[in-house]
Parts: sequence; C-alpha cells; structure tokens
Amino acid sequence: MPSYKFLLAVLPALTLATPSTIPRRDLQLPSCPNSNGTSYIDPTTNNNFTLTCGMDFPRGNLAVTQTSTLAGCLEACSATMPCIGVSYTGENCYLKRKLNSPVSNPSVAIASIEGPIIYANQPETRKCGEDFASFEGCPTSDGCNDYSLGPDGDPMTILCGRDFYGGDLAQFRNTDFDTCYGRCSANHYCVGFSHVPSYPGTGTGRGVCYLKSELALPIHSEKSNVAYMRLAPY
Ligand SMILES: *[C@@H]1O[C@H](CO)[C@@H](O)[C@H](O)[C@H]1NC(C)=O
Ligand SMILES: *[C@@H]1O[C@H](CO)[C@@H](O)[C@H](O)[C@H]1NC(C)=O
Repeated sequence: MPSYKFLLAVLPALTLATPSTIPRRDLQLPSCPNSNGTSYIDPTTNNNFTLTCGMDFPRGNLAVTQTSTLAGCLEACSATMPCIGVSYTGENCYLKRKLNSPVSNPSVAIASIEGPIIYANQPETRKCGEDFASFEGCPTSDGCNDYSLGPDGDPMTILCGRDFYGGDLAQFRNTDFDTCYGRCSANHYCVGFSHVPSYPGTGTGRGVCYLKSELALPIHSEKSNVAYMRLAPY
C-alpha cells in the first residue's frame, strides 16, 4: 500500500507546514534562554519589548500579576499605565514603574519597552475635582487622576481602600488629606502618601499621614481609605 505509506511520510511535513499560515508573532512566543537579547512586539499594542534572560529589575514595582507566559506578562504591562518594563519569574509577572539597574538572577527574565509606549487600557481620565481642596472622599474618588497638582507637577492618582507598606519617609498625626498632600508636595523625596483617616469609609477627616519615599505594591487595606500615587516618570 504505497499510497498509505506516502501519506504517513507526508503528514509530519504537513503538520510542520501548517503553522506558516499563522502570523509569525503567534508562533514565536518569547521564552528563556532562547529569546535572550531579542525584541518582541506585543500584538495588542505593538509595544516593542527588549528581552534579557537571567536578570532582574530590583524594586520599582507597580503591581504584580500571574501570567502563564512571558508574552502574557508583556501584555499585562502594555495594559497598565505607567508600566515600562517587567521582571518575570515562575508565573509571577512584576510590572515596573521604574527600571533600576538590572542585577543578575538566573531564574528571572526582564523586558523593557523600547520607543513610544501605547497602553491598551488608559487609566480613567476622570479628574479628582476642581482641585484637591474639593476632594470628595472615598469611595467616590477611587481611581481619579489629577494631572496638574501632584508634587513637582507630576500626575497623581487616588486609590481608595489601599495602602503602600514600607518606604516611610515621615508621618504626621491629626492631619487631613489635603494637608497630607501639601506635605508630600513640599517634600522633594516624597513620591506619594498613605492617609489613614479617623473615620474609615469616607476617606475624609483627620488621621495619620504617611509620606513615602518609595512605593511598594499597593495592597488592599480596610483602614487606609486613601493612598496616593505618583504616576509620572521616574
Ligand atoms: C524594536 O527595538 C529593537 C531595539 O531597539 C529594534 O532593533 C527593532 O527594530 C525594533 N522593532 C520594531 C518592529 O520596531
Ligand atoms: C543574556 O544576554 C546578556 C547580554 O548579552 C548576558 O549578559 C546574559 O548572561 C544572557 N543571559 C543568559 C541566560 O544567557
């Protein structure tokens, strides 16, 4: 049965040939160590990532998420302003807002965006109010942005029900949100603050103001109704 044999011989070739009709970028999901030093274009945004295997970006975290592939991690970065790069290890995808000098780590891969950055999901552009004096409290203000009044004129956003642990620069008791903001603005080293109001649930009123010199991952917190975060460059 020569034709049967022929088919058997030809099938593997067909199987190999079929993927050539699939777009090239779907085929070439980046992985380590093969993709070391290559670039990868995120298909949703066309962001151009440069990959390096065996390195880690210390600190500078914006958020952490779980993705089964490095490509998924790059997609998550492309969806999350102001992500500019990632560290990927296991299935943990650390989105970076700041890229510190990479350090050697065999189990980690890093990627950073080359050129202009497109974000798949722009953050809400809802303004926080006329100015921070009209801060409406939480949860109304969750996720609102102000692009004019942050420290040094950098954009900032309000996150309700979250906190940043560590990175404390100074703390002030008996302080309301606006005063906390003012103290952060006036402090060259302050990149954001957590405000723990006396009356949880509203975010307004006096409470404890923690100025931050470095922002860790924002975490959920019942007590801290307002955290505040600099969105700007770095
Ligand atoms: C992506 O960036 C790399 C490194 O800068 C560059 O060589 C490559 O041409 C870029 N790719 C595209 C499609 O722009
Ligand atoms: C990846 O390439 C960089 C730069 O060429 C090199 O320093 C690093 O050791 C390489 N990593 C791996 C895992 O080969």
